[in-house]
Amino acid sequence: MEQISNFYKNKRVLVTGATGFKGSWLCSWLLHMGAKVYGSGYSPNQNKNLFYQLKLQKKIKLAIFDIRDQKKLENFIFKSKPSIIFHLAAQPLIIESYLKPHLTIDINVRGTLNVLEASKKFNFIKSVVLITSDKCYENVGKLTRYKEDDVLGGIDPYSASKSASELIIRAYRESFFKNKKNCGISSARAGNVIGGGDWSTKRLIPDCIKSLLKNKVVFLRNPNFNRPWQHVLEPIRGYLMLAKKQFQEPKKYSDAWNFGTKNNSVKSVKEIVDYIISFWGSGKIRVNRENKFHEQKNLQLDINKVKKRLKWYPTYSVKKGVQITTEWYLQVFKNKQDSFKVTNKQIVEYMNENNWH
Ligand SMILES: NC(=O)c1ccc[n+]([C@@H]2O[C@H](COP(=O)([O-])OP(=O)(O)OC[C@H]3O[C@@H](n4cnc5c(N)ncnc54)[C@H](O)[C@@H]3O)[C@@H](O)[C@H]2O)c1
Repeated sequence: MEQISNFYKNKRVLVTGATGFKGSWLCSWLLHMGAKVYGSGYSPNQNKNLFYQLKLQKKIKLAIFDIRDQKKLENFIFKSKPSIIFHLAAQPLIIESYLKPHLTIDINVRGTLNVLEASKKFNFIKSVVLITSDKCYENVGKLTRYKEDDVLGGIDPYSASKSASELIIRAYRESFFKNKKNCGISSARAGNVIGGGDWSTKRLIPDCIKSLLKNKVVFLRNPNFNRPWQHVLEPIRGYLMLAKKQFQEPKKYSDAWNFGTKNNSVKSVKEIVDYIISFWGSGKIRVNRENKFHEQKNLQLDINKVKKRLKWYPTYSVKKGVQITTEWYLQVFKNKQDSFKVTNKQIVEYMNENNWH
């Protein structure tokens, strides 16, 4: 049994990118465990946003500023005095990175750099988990899974921003933290998460749900694209475990970590949408091949290191992940249930599944 709630109870935790999709789930989980949560976001669209839907702005201390503004970030950190930081703020979309390459690289790289600088400066910070992506690896088309020490790379601006962030995290860890500072610094790599409350444009599940809610046909750009899918709670459980272990033993756990999927998690876009439609109870699909940009080939993460050293392993099958994702939207929009309660119920069920207390 993993005693995690006791650890997070009353801990001061900062989540950058709190107003984002993953940030909202992470903040909800931290609140559930009794943490004192501080979050940052940047000009979010409040209408279609899980964070505001869950009214998290009333439950955590939120600051809205650009992560590239080092002074504002450091002021907020100084005031909130977190002992743990999860850095999620980013421009996270590959397609958007082709349209705005400079902005994507600036936000993702400079944001990471600013969080590292602040962590170097303030001694009250004890554990920092920086979220990059499975796209940080050079995709050489190999059939085996990618290990943490495989070559970094990526041929689109988003992937380049994440591999560059990885190099910077490593350099800071080696130069300023290892053997010198009592603070754990890790990067966490995951990809293709799904879950309730995602409203991002140009992502499969949100696009699909938006069509289903309006009783419209679901258009698919790349029905045969295969991806390893995972529910958002899976990597977040990994981030929470890592931050705790790193807090307790920074030297032992400061590293790069893959939070990948189970075997058999690679499914085509069409298979995922078929699952959604079956759980939703109705819906039709049409293929609309409009994608002008290169999309990376499927890449899977090797998870032997996290299994062995963190005792983390994925819990849900892809089908289960899609099922609870679809249920989230059904319960909130068709059955008009309170979104915070639905989210918390899914967190508690997932904790029980993992024997977490
Ligand atoms: N969602 C996925 O499938 C996935 C996969 C791999 C990695 N990731 C990574 O996980 C993290 C969170 O992703 P998400 O899906 O929640 O994205 P999201 O777009 O929902 O959230 C991004 C967050 O970053 C904030 N942000 C953006 N630009 C900012 C700026 N200039 N200054 C301050 N804050 C800014 C936004 O306000 C928001 O809170 C990102 O680092 C992303 O690259 C996501």
